[in-house]
Amino acid sequence: MPSRAGARRRPTALRTLGDLELEASRSVDDAVWGYIQGGAGEEETLRANREAFRRWTIRPRMLSGVRSVDPGTILLGTRVRMPFFVSPTAYQGRIHPDGECGTARAAARAGVLAMFSTLSTDPLEAIAASKPSGARWFQLYLQRDFGASRRLIARAGASGYSAIVVTVDTPVLGPRDRQMRSGLALSAPLPVGSGGDARSPARAPEVRGDRYELPPPADATWDVLDRVREATDLPIVVKGVLTAEDARLAVEHGARAVVVSNHGGRQLDRAPASLDALPEVVAAVGRRTEVYVEGGIRRGSDVIVALALGARGVGVGRPVLWALALGGELGVARYLELLGTEFATCLALAGRRSARELDRAVLGPGPPAR
Ligand SMILES: Cc1cc2nc3c(=O)[nH]c(=O)nc-3n(C[C@H](O)[C@H](O)[C@H](O)COP(=O)(O)O)c2cc1C
Repeated sequence: MPSRAGARRRPTALRTLGDLELEASRSVDDAVWGYIQGGAGEEETLRANREAFRRWTIRPRMLSGVRSVDPGTILLGTRVRMPFFVSPTAYQGRIHPDGECGTARAAARAGVLAMFSTLSTDPLEAIAASKPSGARWFQLYLQRDFGASRRLIARAGASGYSAIVVTVDTPVLGPRDRQMRSGLALSAPLPVGSGGDARSPARAPEVRGDRYELPPPADATWDVLDRVREATDLPIVVKGVLTAEDARLAVEHGARAVVVSNHGGRQLDRAPASLDALPEVVAAVGRRTEVYVEGGIRRGSDVIVALALGARGVGVGRPVLWALALGGELGVARYLELLGTEFATCLALAGRRSARELDRAVLGPGPPAR
């Protein structure tokens, strides 16, 4: 096993998406690697997120006269160069000194949407200044005191974030064995750039004995979305639904988009793979609202499958952190470039000109189980 504490590689040396994870694993220490990689429990859901893609094949059409492809799309009214976006992930400054600001600059250059976590290392205002162009959305972890949530929403609005993404799958923190074993103690004081203000300093998730607590009130109900809506004119995106029932409730309470997500397999082990939950959510609310999916998206062909199943956009979490570990801002820029090129190539190979042309007719069943 190569040492992980070694020098960071030159990000430009990254030649393929397939090399990213291994290269990244050599760039950070075991504690940080466990934090990035870990899922909940036995990591069934984490594995399922990947396996779900293998149940589909892409039916390519030949000689369809595709001279050039347009991989871009529109997410909540903003044109983006690619249908994939940077999912919100906490503590990026623990992974590389470039932190969220580095990720923001790379996403701006790539012309893609990026979401930033309440539990960022850099302050949300500094992140916004690093991505003056293109869409950036603020991911809100509801605070126990709604006044603190309101102040975060106001700061995000004042800094030009164009949507509030409310994560709803984290009433308590999932039991993340690998992370706890590898020793990045989230109960230790961590720099939380966005999540705090003087009156109500944000706290990292706490592990107290066998109880896991997060800032969000674990007893919150869907009504809390109404309070968020009252606090802002920005569109509200609900992140972390896995059922038609919850998707409908999110839309009834004013969500303009929903993100089908199991938090990258870090919350409830044995929750369904995100891709498997996508069709029922699309069937329930897809006509009224935008539906995105995240979890296990690694290659351009994965983006095709997710869009063909009805997602309007897809989020990438760990791969961005791998790229950040590998080379900070330049690593993320290189990764986004590689994924974009691969998605455009897959579109052309499938004989489709644009993301809009992707529908169920693109998909076939996967290979029979061995
Ligand atoms: C290290 C790490 C930290 C995360 N932090 C957050 C967070 O602060 N807020 C949030 O809503 N989701 C968070 N997530 C979940 C991601 O937004 C996303 O749902 C998930 O990473 C997608 O799966 P993937 O990693 O397989 O691409 C985190 C995920 C990881 C791996």
